[in-house]
Amino acid sequence: MNIVLIGPPGSGKGTQAKKILADFDFIYFSAGDTLRNLVKEGSSLGRKVAKIMSQGKLVSDQLMIKIIEDFLAKNKGPVIFDGYPRGLDQAIFLEEILADRGGVGLVINLQVPQEVLLDRLSSRVICQSCGTVFNLITNPPQKESICDACGGSLYQRDDEKPEAAKKRLIVFNEQTKPVIDFFKRKELVFNVDGNQSIGVIYKIIKERLVESGFTPVSA
Ligand code: AP5
Ligand code: MG
Repeated sequence: MNIVLIGPPGSGKGTQAKKILADFDFIYFSAGDTLRNLVKEGSSLGRKVAKIMSQGKLVSDQLMIKIIEDFLAKNKGPVIFDGYPRGLDQAIFLEEILADRGGVGLVINLQVPQEVLLDRLSSRVICQSCGTVFNLITNPPQKESICDACGGSLYQRDDEKPEAAKKRLIVFNEQTKPVIDFFKRKELVFNVDGNQSIGVIYKIIKERLVESGFTPVSA
């Protein structure tokens, strides 16, 4: 089965995804990373996507459908979805497309108070090479501007400006919260207090994954 990591911007989806991937045999789908890679290509579509992302708005469902279809055609194992689905139509589409490959089995909902989120986002830095996420205040790299995991250089995202980050929070409240309710009705949601240390949160998630029948690769 497949799992979904859901939560507002800055709740720690990317951070926890990396930890899960180190222990379990999942394929990772990050909607935001995929779109940022598209932007890097510099095509006219990439330029349109860059504009939408820098404003904190969502790209079209049609573009996301194409991205998900391409991804699933190329990747066959169980997937962790980070940043998808973000609206009800996306949730319905995901359930349909996963119907013959295990469906959505668990939705991990990271809950973090709004005032903590904006602080986290303004101090986040990410590795250019491997995508590991750091925070200059809560989770700093050992050497300034250098990734602990691979030695790559660290950067800040374009949608971290306060106006864009606030817009992303509004979009989450309006469009993504209904997705959580949709999965709650199906009894798939596992709520996690995301306002604890990264290690404590991961321990809770790991235990839940093991309870759900996933085996850590190192075990
Ligand atoms: P996306 O890249 O998915 O951004 P997001 O959902 O806004 O979430 P973030 O990546 O900002 O936060 P996160 O939850 O991953 O937190 P992180 O681990 O980095 O999407 C970006 C944009 O792409 C969207 O705005 C939209 O335009 C577009 N898009 C994406 N998906 C789409 C879709 N499906 N449809 C349409 N458009 C789409 O952690 C944040 C910081 O906090 C880090 O510095 C980290 O070190 C720190 N931190 C993490 N956990 C803790 C902790 N427990 N304690 C202290 N600090 C912590
Ligand atoms: Mg992320």
